[in-house]
Amino acid sequence: MAVTRTFSIIKPDATRRNLTGAVTKMLEEAGLRVVASKRIQMTRKQAEGFYAVHKERPFFGELVDFMISGPVVVQVLEGEDAVKRNRDVMGATNPADADEGTIRKTYAESIEANSVHGSDSDENAKIEIDFFFNEDEIVG
Ligand code: CMP
Repeated sequence: MAVTRTFSIIKPDATRRNLTGAVTKMLEEAGLRVVASKRIQMTRKQAEGFYAVHKERPFFGELVDFMISGPVVVQVLEGEDAVKRNRDVMGATNPADADEGTIRKTYAESIEANSVHGSDSDENAKIEIDFFFNEDEIVG
């Protein structure tokens, strides 16, 4: 299995509850390595750009408001089959549907305040990593 990269966000509901370390520990225990990480306050423009694919969805406005409601931690994760590995440990988008032992089952408050984001494909991982990081900020 190839070592690949994925993109992760620890969302405002998790940073607010001081869960950055707890969430990162679950990512690391799932076999992912944090090769870049920064805590940022997203601007509205950044959040709208990042989630542009969802702009026609009814929840778009609330999603953007939530993502700028507090700091987030953006990360690049590396590991074997990183996109799938990360999605497995995150659990389903809606914590009510997430499996036991996943980040969202353990920590998420709701479908919106669901603690983490993770890329859904290798192609989107590259786009999302490039959105927040320069290559020289990623150190494997
Ligand atoms: P994320 O993986 O960050 O990608 C889009 C986000 O939209 C998703 O996680 C959810 O947190 C959020 N969201 C809010 N409401 C909904 C909804 N009704 N259906 C799907 N996603 C939603």
